[in-house]
Formats: sequence, C-alpha cells, structure tokens
Amino acid sequence: MTYKVPFVDPRKHYQNLKLEIDGAIQDCLFKGDLIFRQQLKDFEANFASFIGVRYAVGLNSGYHALEFSLRAAGIRPGDEVITVAHTFVATVSAIVNVGATPVLVEVSDDFNMDPDAFEAAITSRTTGVIPVSLNGRVCKMDRIMDIADRHGIKVVEDSAQAVGAEYQGVRAGAFGLTGCFSFYPFKLLGGFGDGGAITTNDPDVARMAIRLRYNGEDRETGEFHHHGQTALLDNVQAAVLDRKLRHVPDWIQHRRKIALLYYEGLHGLPGITLPPYDGPGHFDVFQNFVLCAQHRIELREHLRNDGIETLVSWPKPMWEHAGLNLGRPYLPNTERICREVISLPMSAETTEQHVGLTIQSIRQFAYKLHGLENATALAAGVGD
Ligand SMILES: Cc1ncc(COP(=O)(O)O)c(C=O)c1O
Repeated sequence: MTYKVPFVDPRKHYQNLKLEIDGAIQDCLFKGDLIFRQQLKDFEANFASFIGVRYAVGLNSGYHALEFSLRAAGIRPGDEVITVAHTFVATVSAIVNVGATPVLVEVSDDFNMDPDAFEAAITSRTTGVIPVSLNGRVCKMDRIMDIADRHGIKVVEDSAQAVGAEYQGVRAGAFGLTGCFSFYPFKLLGGFGDGGAITTNDPDVARMAIRLRYNGEDRETGEFHHHGQTALLDNVQAAVLDRKLRHVPDWIQHRRKIALLYYEGLHGLPGITLPPYDGPGHFDVFQNFVLCAQHRIELREHLRNDGIETLVSWPKPMWEHAGLNLGRPYLPNTERICREVISLPMSAETTEQHVGLTIQSIRQFAYKLHGLENATALAAGVGD
C-alpha cells in the first residue's frame, strides 16, 4: 500500500542528499577504501566530539555496542544487569548473550527507566544497569548515575534512539561508562544498512571494543587478546554517516518543530495522552513521536484508511515472547504502554502538510469516538 503520509521515506531522504552521499561513497570506491580506513577514523573522531566524549568506536550494529560494552564493563555469567522491558529486544539479548541475568524494571510515563524501580531491584549480584533513553529523550541520568555510583554498578547507556538528546546540558552517551548507538537506517542518524558505535571516555574500554570488533586482534601487534567477533563499521557506511552527521543539528530542529505542531494540533483530545516535550533539564530530539491512545487498534486502522502510516513499538510485552525465556515480571505500566502506544510519522522528510493531515485524521477519530457532533469542523480545528 502506498501511503499519503509515509512513516519514513528513505527514497526521498536519499534524493535530498544524493550529491553528498554519492560523493562520499565514490570517494571510498575510487580509492579502494573499504575496511578500517581514514573515513572510519574521521567519523569516529567527529562523532566522539559531537557526543562530547574522548572516544567513539564504530561497530556494525547497536546490538554489538551493547554486548561489547557489557564485556568491557566486566559483566560475567551469574551477574544481574537491570534494564527495562519497554525497549528493543537487543538491549536484553546483549545481557543474556554475555551470560548475565536481565532484571526487568518499570518505566515512568515518559517511557524511560524509573530510577526508584532501578534502585529497588538492586541485589548483591547486580553489577550493571542499562538505562534506555527511548524515543529521543534522555533518562533521568543524574539519579541513575548517583544510585549506580553508590552501589558500584557499571552504567551502559542504551542511547540507540537518542543521538543529540540532552539532559542537564550533557548528551546521551556521555554519562555512563559507555553510550551505545545504532545507525540503523531509520534512526535520526542512520546509514544505508546496519551500523552502531560505542562512545566512552575510558581508554581501556575503547581499546577493548576496538579489538573485539576485529575478532579480538590488536591490529598493530597482530596479537589476539580476546575471542571477539567480526563487527567493524564498514568504511563506506562511516563515510556516509560522517556526511550525514553535519545535518544532525538541522534534523533535530526539524523534528522538534514537527513535534510542536503535533502538540498544538492534538493537545486536550479525549483518550489521547501526548509524550512530554522537554521539561526540567531535558532537550528532546524526537527520534519517535509516540502517543498513548486508549483505542489504539481502532485509531491505527482509522489512520491507515486515511493513508497515514504509523508504527507500534512494541505491541506485546517482551516477556510474553516465550522463546526469550524472561519469566513473568509484574510491570503494569509497561503492559499498559504496550497496549496504548502508537508512533506518528516523524523523520527529516516529514512535512507540515503530512502533520496537518495526521492531526486532522486523529481529531476526526477522537471526536467521532466520543459522539461529539460536528466532527469535521472540529477536526479541521474550527472553533478552537
Ligand atoms: C533502544 C534500542 N536499543 C538497541 C537497538 C539495537 O540497534 P541495532 O538494530 O543497530 O542492532 C535499537 C535499534 O533499533 C534500539 O532502538
């Protein structure tokens, strides 16, 4: 189905950047720069400086950033690592795959880890925590760092959805031992394939990640220090990401503008709860614009019929996927969120016209559902 308002538009994205992207790729290809060349080093330096840390290590996915971070943090089989269930499965799989036990805790209404729930879940076996800064909003990192420091717990930030987001003037990925980023194509900073990075101020952690991504090898000495993996960020992807990084401040402003329009158009509608916009200490970048709708299934269908594409992340609590073997934690807020969340179109290519159509459709739905008369006039914003 072709949507009038697509959720994202990768073809338009490429067309808008074609000259720059083609130039970056051709530069690599003409020079034969394919693996671990200057383009990767340049991107790592520029990305580290953007986040505000000493090192960035380019990897082939956000998942690998998480797994290598946990290994570099010294997390071992038998340890407990606290994180949230309302996240992409990779966060939890990284914990399981290093042999540790994930302990899943509740999120607050901003979809991010509740610091009190984190503190309450700490046991003598807790050695790590992964706060996930979801949808482009940083967790309450002052409280999380304070609790972790008091208990000697290593903090690995999952900042896959928070490139450029800030809390108290610090960017996501610059608080913990590491920040873990994903450059999956539909992220705010996305490649043309998979990619990721670890950010850190710790030279030992950076060195270990650099070796782990190259099957454990120190490329200068040829010594294998670990059983690692093949997990390097491709040079061509790095060249593309380096070009795109220059656009990130503008893309953030664009997303914040789109988010503001959604707020103006949707505030006060019955049955719909909007996500927070900034608030004390926060600078949100809206990787996603996620609202909670009491009648999510019907709303999604209504939007689809109007040609508007949406996404639901995630409709089923993670622990209900039996194959993941995560037990049955009691997380009522997470369960409610899974029932209610719906992500509206949001990307560098989302236009004011797209937002207008989406708002109109949601208003029509909300007013019809609540039996109000004159739904069309109200949907158009008449009489506000
Ligand atoms: C919150 C979160 N964590 C981790 C990841 C994993 O990143 P990747 O898909 O690059 O492995 C993602 C990607 O979607 C994510 O959104």
